[in-house]
Amino acid sequence: MNTDLPTRHKALTKWVKKMINLCEPKDVHWCDGSQEEWDQLTQELVDKGTLIQLNPEKRPNSFLARSAPSDVARVEERTFIATKHKDEAGPTNNWCEEGEMKKQILELFQGSMKGRTMYVIPFCMGPLESPLAKIGVQVTDSAYAVLNMRIMAHMGSHVLERLEKEAFGEIESRRTKPGFFIPCLHSVGAPLEDGQEDVPWPCNDEKYIVHFVRSREIASYGSGYGGNALLGKKCLALRVASNIAREHDWMAEHMLILGLESPSGEKTYVTGAFPSACGKTNLSMLVPPEKYRKEGWKTSIVGDDIAWLWPHEDGRLHAINPETGYFGVAPGTSYESNPTAMDSMKENCIFTNVALTDDGDVWWEGMTDDVPAHLIDWQGNDWTPEDGKNGVKAAHPNARFTAPAGQCPTIDPEWQNPEGVPVSAIVFGGRRKTTMPLVYQSFNWSHGVYVGATMGSETTAAAAGAMGVVRRDPMAMLPFCGYNMGHYFRHWINMGRKVDHLPKMFHVNWFRLDQDGKFLWPGFGENMRVLEWIVDRCKGRALGHESSIGWVPTIDEIDLEGLDGFGEVEFDKVMAIDQNEWKHEILSQGELFINLHQHMPRELVYQRELLASRIID
Ligand code: GTP
Ligand code: SPV
Ligand code: MN
Repeated sequence: MNTDLPTRHKALTKWVKKMINLCEPKDVHWCDGSQEEWDQLTQELVDKGTLIQLNPEKRPNSFLARSAPSDVARVEERTFIATKHKDEAGPTNNWCEEGEMKKQILELFQGSMKGRTMYVIPFCMGPLESPLAKIGVQVTDSAYAVLNMRIMAHMGSHVLERLEKEAFGEIESRRTKPGFFIPCLHSVGAPLEDGQEDVPWPCNDEKYIVHFVRSREIASYGSGYGGNALLGKKCLALRVASNIAREHDWMAEHMLILGLESPSGEKTYVTGAFPSACGKTNLSMLVPPEKYRKEGWKTSIVGDDIAWLWPHEDGRLHAINPETGYFGVAPGTSYESNPTAMDSMKENCIFTNVALTDDGDVWWEGMTDDVPAHLIDWQGNDWTPEDGKNGVKAAHPNARFTAPAGQCPTIDPEWQNPEGVPVSAIVFGGRRKTTMPLVYQSFNWSHGVYVGATMGSETTAAAAGAMGVVRRDPMAMLPFCGYNMGHYFRHWINMGRKVDHLPKMFHVNWFRLDQDGKFLWPGFGENMRVLEWIVDRCKGRALGHESSIGWVPTIDEIDLEGLDGFGEVEFDKVMAIDQNEWKHEILSQGELFINLHQHMPRELVYQRELLASRIID
């Protein structure tokens, strides 16, 4: 076995040696992040049957992976926050005692990489020079994870070198703890005995996604998929980072970051916290309507999923995107709905659980109007439109593309600026059939925190018996906040006192329905019209109107030119604030307060009282 440890970083050497002894791999490979390494690993995975090389004429340097049918998404019920006391994790997280879990992890991982190669991945979340940058080292027995990490994060020799130089004080570092790294242990949990044949997608039915948030360690076992296996993403950049952020006065959020440039060249950045499947990727890649493009409006993307925000010396809240790629939902993505995403995945991509066309390209539901006459579905079976009619999906509903952000045609020129971009507005938005108007603005910061904290999203009409049921997903962080949600709300309130020029806070709802079940608002690119009002409010250009729930636009403040069939009647419907609906809403929001009563900041309790007294006469 190659036991060379090509690093002079003592703590890293010690940790990797310990991991080798624990996991007992047959080989160790330190990832340098080079093209040669990518070529070698993709070739190995093609030979093994894990990857299929797509037709290079159609999709150069791109590959399709089909996971085990049981390993297709994050596993929230197997995700744990390990702390001393249950109260630190709070009622919205799965808690485990950290000492107990440490023992369990050691047992689980003992010999877990037998017969496999251990890859050591030095990676950095955020621009390397940013004061918020976080360096992690993931050891994994999944080459698929290595390839995805190379797209999703800064990864390889240059990160390791930086970590070493920091540790020896050879370079200036703006990080709080130069030389520090977050150890991330990952195994698919499928050791190979001598002579045992491998499967294309090894994994284990028993899964553990564990965050030791105080010691900043991550251990993930049994899954090779997405957020379970790419430990820089949800595990580090949200669950662990939310803990670090709380202690060091910044924020780790499940947010997109979008740039808006007006015809006069004025640039405004907004962030958006929307729960899963509520349109973050779509909004961050928004293509404005023709009218706006002609006038000279431009949009640009800094990030589509995660934002780290901090009070900058200039007195404003700044944001970086800690990721360097998109891990986006494929189904429903088309040149019609999201051309920017389609253009971002022309080459150098990994597709997971999508369908394969006869000419070696990818396809998924909603990609084209014409359904191909024959496909190989995500499970490797023949598929025809007849199967589709019988409800068999060609692509898994959570099929994803992994695409390098640098390939996005609307990538913002500042996306790798270590200082981040200044944020003028924070937008919250769930999926609500009723109650929530198209847009409203909070009265102030703590009211805005209330609006985000009580954000809800409805299950679709397709879900049996779920009509009108709202799941509270505070700040879209329910599955990602690594500590007590009540403390998290307190942190948000406190941040309001640390920023001189606070962003304005808004709530949007693209999903309100009319009595026939049709969307009242056309959405997608047309959301630009709402964003323009948001920008105007931030710059003090729109007077707005004070309603019982917040500031709302008057009809003449929303540009409706070129929106066929959308006039005053439709505007009134999509903006309606119905007293009865809001009475229900306040009651329903109360459940969250009961759940979290112990640590609920008083400010939010009073905000609820104020809202109730404005609504109920
Ligand atoms: P995750 O990657 O799971 O966090 O999802 P996301 O928040 O990035 O959501 P995404 O942009 O992938 O969109 C999810 C779904 O919302 C898709 O099916 C879109 O078609 C739909 N959607 C997005 N924007 C709009 C909109 O403005 N109006 C309507 N009606 N649907 C939208
Ligand atoms: C999400 O579920 O919000 C994702 C996908 O972005 S995953 O990385 O798998 O968490
Ligand atoms: Mn997401």
